[in-house]
Amino acid sequence: MTMPTLSSTGFRISKDQLIVAVPVAVVAAAGGFLLSSYLSGRSCKKGRVNTCISKDSPKVVHSCDMEDIGTKAVYCRCWKSKKFPYCDGAHAKHNEETGDNVGPLIIKKRDA
Ligand code: FES
Repeated sequence: MTMPTLSSTGFRISKDQLIVAVPVAVVAAAGGFLLSSYLSGRSCKKGRVNTCISKDSPKVVHSCDMEDIGTKAVYCRCWKSKKFPYCDGAHAKHNEETGDNVGPLIIKKRDA
């Protein structure tokens, strides 16, 4: 039989209980850390998307007429294109550098 120990808070726990409680607590803490890391990777992160386009403007808005699109238009959604609002492929470098997964919006007419 093991003797119970008395902690500074008055909570009694035996050595046998301690041998079980410590590994359980460590596994629970590690599991919680891994779960929170997994969930935070799935959620949206806060921060600025636009780092360089028309920064002197309170809002960046572009408009185009449907008639001017032609058969296909490719619009940037990563905000890194030098031809913004059109995609110039800069998203590939951005994705490689950051681990992001952004790509363009492609608008095209249905095949006739
Ligand atoms: Fe931004 Fe392609 S350059 S989506």
